[in-house]
Amino acid sequence: MKFKFLLTIMSSVLFFVFCSSSKKSSVNKTAITYTNNIQPLFLAKCAPCHFPEKGGKKTPFNTYEAVADEIDEIVTRVQLQPGQRHFMPKDGDRLSEKEIQMIKDWQTGGLVK
Ligand code: HEC
Repeated sequence: MKFKFLLTIMSSVLFFVFCSSSKKSSVNKTAITYTNNIQPLFLAKCAPCHFPEKGGKKTPFNTYEAVADEIDEIVTRVQLQPGQRHFMPKDGDRLSEKEIQMIKDWQTGGLVK
């Protein structure tokens, strides 16, 4: 009896988690592309340092290929806290949770151009 009760609870929790997570991914992932979302964000937050045409001398993030190549390191660094070693954007404000989530969704969504 008790076991059945537990089973019911567990399956409703699983059902809920599954529904909310699949809903979230269908809203975000399909929509995020380099051209529409990532490029404008990087231009706003990672220039001039990572844009050679703006005088930046750091690893360039001015093309799709350059950003896609470095995506793991990028995702790691933007999730650090200001003041921590390797935090990016250097000397800037931390990206918003929404912006960080967008980069992660772009990564897990297959780096759509
Ligand atoms: C004010 C200048 C500045 C800005 C703005 C800036 N960076 Fe950087 N970035 C640097 C410097 C300097 C380094 C090299 C030192 C280091 O590795 O911490 C670096 C290094 C990096 C690296 C490591 C590159 C490699 O070759 O391993 C990544 C990844 C990175 N930045 C991501 C970003 C992202 C993403 C943004 C925008 C959200 C950003 N940075 C904004 C100055 C900047």
